[in-house]
Amino acid sequence: MAIAESNPKVADNTDVATLIRRLRVDGYAMARGFIHPHTRQLLAAEGDALIGRFTRDGYRSEDYWCYDVANQTLPMLYRVHNLEKQGAQRIAELFADGPLHQLASAVLRSPVVASVCAMIVKTPGVAAVPWHRDRTNVPPTNAVNLSVFLDEASPENGCIEVVPGSHLQPDDADVDQARSTGPHAQVLAAPEDVLIHDVRLVHGSGDNTSQSIRRSIVIEFSSVGPTHGE
Ligand code: NI
Repeated sequence: MAIAESNPKVADNTDVATLIRRLRVDGYAMARGFIHPHTRQLLAAEGDALIGRFTRDGYRSEDYWCYDVANQTLPMLYRVHNLEKQGAQRIAELFADGPLHQLASAVLRSPVVASVCAMIVKTPGVAAVPWHRDRTNVPPTNAVNLSVFLDEASPENGCIEVVPGSHLQPDDADVDQARSTGPHAQVLAAPEDVLIHDVRLVHGSGDNTSQSIRRSIVIEFSSVGPTHGE
């Protein structure tokens, strides 16, 4: 579902100007229903296959980030890194070019380059992700992470939580202090939604206390070349 200059709407009719404003003010914005249901199905099937390689087939590599759990034979998988290099065609295509690049380019008002690509795997029982900023070596609104939700994200399954506006805090701001000062927002998402968040945003996610897995594909995009004014 591409964003063209002539038709700057995302799937739920949020216009790009609104996404840009939210990203600048809050440090995040949600493009609801941005990924076509059929595309989500294909991506989710590839995600399942990669997870199955690890859990069922015993495949191990340094790209499969996991930790050992006491009294449990299977390590807990929480991230598949270098996701575009794992032999999954649709995921590789998503990383190479297409709607996410157009969305990132539209909200950053600049040509973009995709860098990090990963699948976040919130298995039931997986530990919370500590609050953090992805990086602060760029000014606000220069680099974003786009999260493609393959599953619903809710408080029960450890949705992302953010400190709105924290992308504007200084590079060396204390993350824990930002968190305790607030404000806080829980980012609820439906499958096919795409969360755009500034890499500087203070965020984390809770435990998955539900019975179902929550997966998302995250790709980082950075501005390259001249921006369109401002
Ligand atoms: Ni993060």
